[in-house]
Amino acid sequence: MASPPHTSKTLKLERYNSYLRRLHSTKVLNASSKLIFRVTLLIALVLILFFTLNYPPLSDKNPNHAHLHHHNFLSAALFTSSAGGDAWEKQVRHSSTPKKPNGLSVLVTGAAGFVGSHCSIALKKRGDGVLGLDNFNSYYDPSLKRARQKLLLKNQVFIVEGDLNDASLLTKLFDVVPFTHILHLAAQAGVRYAMQNPQSYVSSNIAGFVNLLEVAKAANPQPAIVWASSSSVYGLNTQVPFSELDRTDQPASLYAATKKAGEEIAHTYNHIYGLSLTGLRFFTVYGPWGRPDMAYFFFTKDILQGKPIDVYQTQDKKQVARDFTYIDDVVKGCLGALDTAEKSTGSGGKKKGPAQLRVYNLGNTSPVPVGNLVSILEGLLRTKARKHVIKMPRNGDVPYTHANVTLANRDFGYKPTTDLATGLRKFVKWYVDYYGIQTRAKKDSDINSEHPEESP
Ligand SMILES: NC(=O)c1ccc[n+]([C@@H]2O[C@H](COP(=O)([O-])OP(=O)(O)OC[C@H]3O[C@@H](n4cnc5c(N)ncnc54)[C@H](O)[C@@H]3O)[C@@H](O)[C@H]2O)c1
Repeated sequence: MASPPHTSKTLKLERYNSYLRRLHSTKVLNASSKLIFRVTLLIALVLILFFTLNYPPLSDKNPNHAHLHHHNFLSAALFTSSAGGDAWEKQVRHSSTPKKPNGLSVLVTGAAGFVGSHCSIALKKRGDGVLGLDNFNSYYDPSLKRARQKLLLKNQVFIVEGDLNDASLLTKLFDVVPFTHILHLAAQAGVRYAMQNPQSYVSSNIAGFVNLLEVAKAANPQPAIVWASSSSVYGLNTQVPFSELDRTDQPASLYAATKKAGEEIAHTYNHIYGLSLTGLRFFTVYGPWGRPDMAYFFFTKDILQGKPIDVYQTQDKKQVARDFTYIDDVVKGCLGALDTAEKSTGSGGKKKGPAQLRVYNLGNTSPVPVGNLVSILEGLLRTKARKHVIKMPRNGDVPYTHANVTLANRDFGYKPTTDLATGLRKFVKWYVDYYGIQTRAKKDSDINSEHPEESP
């Protein structure tokens, strides 16, 4: 069949339709290029915003500032809320400025801790400037740390709340204050807990210590550093009394191993960067405001509550003994070490000459069997303990500690003067006051007259 013939009317209609199609496609093209333009503009804006927030301006040459800029958003937010601003800087400066000519300006890490709080107040009382740093972790009751913090505030010592591993915060502190010394006491303490939470020891005692040394080495002037090692580095050493020359390569716990690692790390930073470093090996420190995880403390609590206490014996049924050292003696040792610490020799992160590297025992030189400790407590609390004598489990504890302190005596006159009975009396007095316990011990006039209210 033939197709229908073309008339002029159908031709016109077709031309009109094709015109309409062209018109439509041009509109679509225009609309889509507008859309592409807008999307590109939006992406560009997002990218500009992202780079502005994440990278420092090219003109900022201060490496410390660059470091701060690279800090992640979350901690930057925390940082500005807890540390920073004019009021905060004023408080930091006020706390760390010495009140006497040639006084020290000391950053005390672990200032809310047992030894740290005592040392901070002792330094402040003699006119030195002190700034504390502590992360207030919950290894033991943080309310005790908060109570120590309150006491420090009363004594004009401000504690910055932060972690040793926060490089930006530490750098900021050194930007604000030219510390002459660091008394580094912050650590994960405790021998037994290392089996439960080994990573916390690595984080605070190794990574945190390295972080602090990195900041100290870069600071101008470099501070001198006195830090807490531990008698636990003697580990399975059988030579008594323990001397600094004895071997320390047989740690019995991860805690001891991290302290030993600290001593080796100290050697490295002294050798490469000229940091002046003094390690103090404390021997079972005890006293008021002490640590609830230590035997003298939880024995007191359990005896008062009528609970049984585990008293350890060695594998060959001998008494476990400790060279218990009273806090005031240890504080004197720490201050003596700070006063005799020579200046670091480096600057701009580079060593300029040999620097001092020391290690000292700070003990009491007279070990006491743990059984005797319990008898003294029974007497002070006037309560019989329910003793449960068992073999010492293999949990990192060592059977015996005994310090030779000849070196500390020679170099800064360290001479412990408090025997265990005297020191425990002061501890028990504090304990019953602090926890508001009505005991027969509390009525004992001997105990009541001993201890001044305020000293930590
Ligand atoms: N008390 C002793 O018998 C004894 C014996 C040997 C060695 N030492 C050492 O002496 C030092 C002081 O001991 P202490 O008995 O006062 O202990 P402590 O636990 O009372 O004090 C340590 C303080 O450091 C803080 N801290 C821990 N990790 C931190 C971190 N990463 N950043 C910031 N703060 C952190 C804790 O919150 C705590 O307040 C420690 O280094 C400890 O290992 C103590």
